[in-house]
Amino acid sequence: RKRFHGRDFLSIGDVTGEEIRAMIDIARELKEARYRGDRHTLCEGKTLAMIFQKPSTRTRVSFEVAMYQLGGYALYLNAQDLQLGRGETIADTARVLSRYVDGIMIRTFSQEDVVALAEAATIPVINGLTDWEHPCQILADLMTILEAKGRFEGLKVAWVGDGNNVCHSLLLAAPRVRMDIAVATPPGYEPHPEIVAAAKEAAAGSKVEVLNDPVEAVREADVVVTDVWASMGQEAEHTERVRIFRPYQVNASLLRHARPDCIFLHCLPAHRGEEVADEVIDGPASRVWDEAENRLHVQKALLALVL
Ligand code: CP
Ligand code: NVA
Repeated sequence: RKRFHGRDFLSIGDVTGEEIRAMIDIARELKEARYRGDRHTLCEGKTLAMIFQKPSTRTRVSFEVAMYQLGGYALYLNAQDLQLGRGETIADTARVLSRYVDGIMIRTFSQEDVVALAEAATIPVINGLTDWEHPCQILADLMTILEAKGRFEGLKVAWVGDGNNVCHSLLLAAPRVRMDIAVATPPGYEPHPEIVAAAKEAAAGSKVEVLNDPVEAVREADVVVTDVWASMGQEAEHTERVRIFRPYQVNASLLRHARPDCIFLHCLPAHRGEEVADEVIDGPASRVWDEAENRLHVQKALLALVL
């Protein structure tokens, strides 16, 4: 556990499969402890600055509650209200925050900004979502898969929809825990080739497929995952994307191609009737509420380890 102390968490590619499992083991212990009503002081006296340049429900609440439950304190900082919004540099912001707090969680647009923040900071930086990746989400997804299936090895996970930030993190994570992954996006909306190449490189025997046919991706899948068709910052493309992505909706008829015991995940917020039909998100395969809850537990594990 010592090897995590002081580390940044900017990409799911920053951690090995073994480290992912270690974090999930701790998250499961913390989840049980929470259910028993045990109190923790793993982050007593520690503070976390949370910078948000985009909206959030789950990330904001789960990080803030996580710090409280660990005996620490979290500060919500809207990027617009910081001097960052008036031109103070990211590096200077990082230097100053490093003198006050013990860690920084940031949600913003560019991954490069998060890297720049981490380089100038002397404290751990956690990526709470960029346009490029959403690593905390994938820790929660993996924990949810392990709870439902009891293993990762030999499972097939299918991603259907946009080759976006969440898809990127899932692509990097799946081979690390020895799951096969098949991604189906409309042509032109595939995950970035750099991510696909990194995922393939991490795959020691597990399959990484990038396709355009949702039926082929979902065939015999144990886990089916989707996300919104227009991410934060892409609002202007929404109408066009809805037209292009229509054949990629996760509905009962698509799910029939997956294994009968397959589970459905979605990082939320969901655009019901677009990327997912009510019958699926509210149906027996859905684990989305456990997935949302697990954000809290995995982030408590991550915070306890890096802080
Ligand atoms: N899944 C997720 O990150 O949700 P929020 O945008 O509400 O934080
Ligand atoms: N892909 C979505 C995820 C939201 C949690 C977005 O970036 O808006």
